[in-house]
Amino acid sequence: MYLKLRNGIQIPCVGFGTSLIEGEECVVNIKRALSSGYRHIDTASAYKNEQYIGLAIKESNIPREDLFITSKVWKDSMGYENTINSFNNSLENLGLDYLDLFLIHWPRNNDESLNIKTWKALEELYKQKKVRAIGVSNFLKHHLENLLDNCEIIPMVDQIEFHPGLMREETVKFCRENNIIVEAWAPLGKGKMLQNKDLIEIAKKYNKSVAQICIKWCLQNGVIPLPKSTNLDRMIENQAVFDFSISEEDMRFINSMEFFAGSAMDPNKS
Ligand code: A2P
Repeated sequence: MYLKLRNGIQIPCVGFGTSLIEGEECVVNIKRALSSGYRHIDTASAYKNEQYIGLAIKESNIPREDLFITSKVWKDSMGYENTINSFNNSLENLGLDYLDLFLIHWPRNNDESLNIKTWKALEELYKQKKVRAIGVSNFLKHHLENLLDNCEIIPMVDQIEFHPGLMREETVKFCRENNIIVEAWAPLGKGKMLQNKDLIEIAKKYNKSVAQICIKWCLQNGVIPLPKSTNLDRMIENQAVFDFSISEEDMRFINSMEFFAGSAMDPNKS
């Protein structure tokens, strides 16, 4: 199943998150994810696992065009030249000759001009066809507004923390209005959603797991979930979300849940 980005590029609508896995464990995990059906892998230079992901991709022998690979430029490499260098390092680490999506990982708050200089580098990489789509991550509405006032190409994606209790309505509404696809990192709230009593009750009704409810809830909100797992059965479970729908009433209920857990990371701080 795919969604379409503004420029027509198809993006697999359940991706695989890879933060906090490194080394040989990462190679094993990504091979497992690819064998379980994931084709959309989300990494970042800050995760320090690009070379292991590259190895897993190479060993999996999946045709490159079947994969959708995202990476991101980290805070310490922002600015025009640094960003180009960071992109080239990511490509080299991953052993690829193009990326599907490249994102600014975190907005600068103390110097927003750096967001714009960094964005200019992404625009240039896109124009040179080194990357099929460009976007941002952790940008709130005001960061996006500032970027849109100063850019030639509007970001195609904004990847934010998004799970029950943390919907970032203002930012998501702005993204919808500007045809920016929202991706959800930590769609399971780093696992903290799974003990929530209300979500457990809803999951029982559909004979699904809470993880599947959170993932489907993202999709029904038009958001691309990027769940993480180190376990093959759970990787499979997290993709088995296309044989049911959450009712409008339950969607409304989950949409109205108050914040109860999350990463505690604030995009207004950098
Ligand atoms: P594990 O690696 O043991 O599967 P998020 O994607 O929001 O960051 O959440 C990741 C966490 O959720 C990990 O601790 C992962 O543990 C756990 N997790 C992922 N999928 C499932 C699932 N289907 N059921 C239970 N826990 C899950």
